[in-house]
Amino acid sequence: MITGTTQITFRLLAPHEPVPYHLLLIADPSRDMIDSYLSSSRVFIAETEGQIQGVMVIYNRTNLEVEIKNIAVEERLHGKGIGTFLIKNGIQLCRQEGVKKMYIGTANSSIGQLYLYQKLGFNIEEIRNNYFINQHYPEPIFENGIQAKHLIMLSRKL
Ligand code: ACO
Repeated sequence: MITGTTQITFRLLAPHEPVPYHLLLIADPSRDMIDSYLSSSRVFIAETEGQIQGVMVIYNRTNLEVEIKNIAVEERLHGKGIGTFLIKNGIQLCRQEGVKKMYIGTANSSIGQLYLYQKLGFNIEEIRNNYFINQHYPEPIFENGIQAKHLIMLSRKL
């Protein structure tokens, strides 16, 4: 992707590179939750001139199904297409690997994210009621003036 004169690349984070927790924590405020899925996931980044602009964690549910567990873009760069760039590249890569289905979950309060994911072909598949109240999130989370209570799980065929 090219924004202005700047080229953005999509690549796997190498094992020796530090995990960009500052970005992952924007999408998921629980460090424990992040660590619980990182060991079975791959971390991809969107990068410009050596600077990480966005991150996406893809977790292998099975050989045929994956889940985007975390996606986050530097706050000052929101709305410039980097999230879309990450998801489209993830879809293309997983499709080439023979993966058949991709999931992504978000909160009932994440209106912009629900818009973005549906625009990229994901459909609501399941609602896990009270997920953010019962599990791993001791502090209440509010977005858009709405409490994050339920996990909306979306999916799309690849
Ligand atoms: N609020 C309102 N609109 C949004 C939001 C939002 N939070 N996120 C995306 N959109 C809209 C954009 O306005 C844009 O609309 P348009 O195509 O009609 O112009 C469209 O979605 C595409 O947006 P992008 O520019 O491709 O998305 P961006 O680069 O901002 O990345 C992301 C989206 C990753 C959600 C980013 O906003 C972000 O880092 N948010 C904070 C962390 C977060 O909430 N991550 C997702 C949690 S769920 C999970 O991780 C599985």
